Amino acid sequence: MPIPALPDDTAPLLPLGRPGAGHRRPWDTARFWYGACYYPEHWDAATRRQDAERMAAAGLNVVRMGEFAWDLFEPAEGRFDFALYDEVLAELHRHGIAVILGTPTAAPPLWLSRAHPEILRVDARGVTLAHGSRQHASHFSPVFRRYSRAITAALAGHFAGHPAVVGWQTDNEIHCHFSEDHAPAAQEAFRRFLEVRYRGDLAALNHAWGNAFWAQTCTAFAHLETPRDGLPTYQNPGARLDYVRFLADGAARFQHEQVAILRAADARWFITHNGLMRHLDYRGAFTADLDVLGHDVYPMFCHDHARRPEWLARSLDHARCLSGNFIIPELQAGPGGQPGYLLDTPEPGEMRSFVYESLARGADSLLFFRWRTCRMGAEEYWCGILDHDSVPRRRYAEVAAIGAELARVGPALLGTAVRVEAAVADGDLAVETAAASYSCGLDLGEATRDAHRALLHAGLAAGLVHPADDLSTLGLYIIPGWELIDPAWVAPLERWVAAGGVLVIGPRSGTRTPDNRITADTWPGVLRPLAGATVQEFGRLNHPASRPFTLELAGRALPASGWYELLAPDADTAVVARWRGRHLDNQPAITRRAHGRGQVFYVGTWLDAALWEALLPVVLATTTLRPLLPGCPPAVHVSVRENATRRLWFAINHGEQPATVPLPPGLDLVSGRRSDGPMTLERFGVAVVQTEAG
Ligand code: GAL
Repeated sequence: MPIPALPDDTAPLLPLGRPGAGHRRPWDTARFWYGACYYPEHWDAATRRQDAERMAAAGLNVVRMGEFAWDLFEPAEGRFDFALYDEVLAELHRHGIAVILGTPTAAPPLWLSRAHPEILRVDARGVTLAHGSRQHASHFSPVFRRYSRAITAALAGHFAGHPAVVGWQTDNEIHCHFSEDHAPAAQEAFRRFLEVRYRGDLAALNHAWGNAFWAQTCTAFAHLETPRDGLPTYQNPGARLDYVRFLADGAARFQHEQVAILRAADARWFITHNGLMRHLDYRGAFTADLDVLGHDVYPMFCHDHARRPEWLARSLDHARCLSGNFIIPELQAGPGGQPGYLLDTPEPGEMRSFVYESLARGADSLLFFRWRTCRMGAEEYWCGILDHDSVPRRRYAEVAAIGAELARVGPALLGTAVRVEAAVADGDLAVETAAASYSCGLDLGEATRDAHRALLHAGLAAGLVHPADDLSTLGLYIIPGWELIDPAWVAPLERWVAAGGVLVIGPRSGTRTPDNRITADTWPGVLRPLAGATVQEFGRLNHPASRPFTLELAGRALPASGWYELLAPDADTAVVARWRGRHLDNQPAITRRAHGRGQVFYVGTWLDAALWEALLPVVLATTTLRPLLPGCPPAVHVSVRENATRRLWFAINHGEQPATVPLPPGLDLVSGRRSDGPMTLERFGVAVVQTEAG
């Protein structure tokens, strides 16, 4: 294929995939893909020989490969060699195994770094990254982008029409180790990005960033630099947010070029990218270019065994919040580690519980990382399904047993959406950047986690949903302290409440503009009419022991957490909780206002786990929400996937003891047998009961 020219970076990106994200969108894949990541270039022919046969015997129908094999594909500039992959693809195809290929740009070869050292990234300290691991090249370098297009075009041209190749993964985990870029090419691109964003109007940029503060007024775009370390003190929050938007835009443009080449080469291919990492706008152009977003899942990174199931549920709900159902290109297949650590080894049955939790919460296909544990390189202890010696042991047997079940469960899942009735706001790049730029020591991630966990433990159809997404299935929506609220989100939110939704707004919400400045309006800013209360005073609760404040809610005295707001309710707004202590005594702390057929709670303190325990029952009493399976033990995660014709009830027992789960009668797809109703699940036991919709 000819190598396309460098596109115009000042033009808007027009999505090449499926525009319009939505948490309820299924992936329209023809098959449920079950597989593993495979690195044939690491193994000799004798070791490879049995691989395809063993994969097929375990029920795998796909492998992902090639994402780090640039040095194999192009051993010297412009000299391409696909012989090994041709051979391996033919063998896999003979065994009915399809292939997802990776564009290998996360590991550019040594000859390229030596010929063009200007492609190397520069970190926030100004250090140029050296060749020797991966992800060392700058997405803003026009030279690197030319090489990226060239290798993508060569691969796409060679494999177009190949019967085994069904899809592609672009690059690998963009922004995984490293998201910042301060290379000279990035500096130039940053200035260009800002000129386009502010339409050449420096006064607008100076206003947006508040550059009058500390004499930062800029008089020429040429004077602007990426915000680096080495400042005497804090960065400008406006500059920080635009820099993160710039990093996200650069990654999207870099990927877009590859996607355009792949789509032109073979229209049958689906395209994905695996993550989820920092500083990417997964609800924007980056994902709109793809057919399906990939979410890599390593549950053992949650070191607390007791908390792992809810950690996993949140990470999956986060992925679904970004663009609907997803593929898991990498699921932990054993212990994993780098030189300094080794994560827990999954116990017997635990990997299966990860698989079913993933399916329950939106995975439409799933691959393990990786087929076999590597004997060399920086990841010798990232264990695959097979051990270093290629002997199939317990993990292989478990993968094969799951494969047999997925032959029934997989096809039934496709085309279904996860039911969500109670959700927490999540998934916004600007909000996360704003929160990080001025957290006042409060952690939005923790607040999101605590709210999500409260919904999950209540047995509700819990999820994470962005405020600009479709809220119509929700009875309850929680915004746990989003400082930056885009005014465009307010009218749909207001309509949703008026139609019967119950909204909980956390403290500090609506206090910032989309430029990351503090709003001129009385807090909660653009949410003020909906909230029905204003913030008259706020403060950090730094020393609760020496300056005690409590909150009186539903007859209980709760320790105040982190932050207080003294609220002035409107005439038609009720007081739900009051402060106790010092000058706050008896002042409103939580309010509730009826709006249309719905309710709005405004919470003037940081929403943590202890507060949710007392607050959630009060909030739920104003809704019609019920647990998915009333009476189900809390250690069992329950979820429903459904479409117009069928409903799948998932139950996964993450508890230490067997549990009886009040499932409805139906066909248990895991065992293939009819079930009359309640089922007892052993530890790590799973059920997927299919019933008719309606
Ligand atoms: C992922 C990455 C893989 C491998 C794996 C285990 O983040 O995509 O290439 O590095 O982690 O560390």
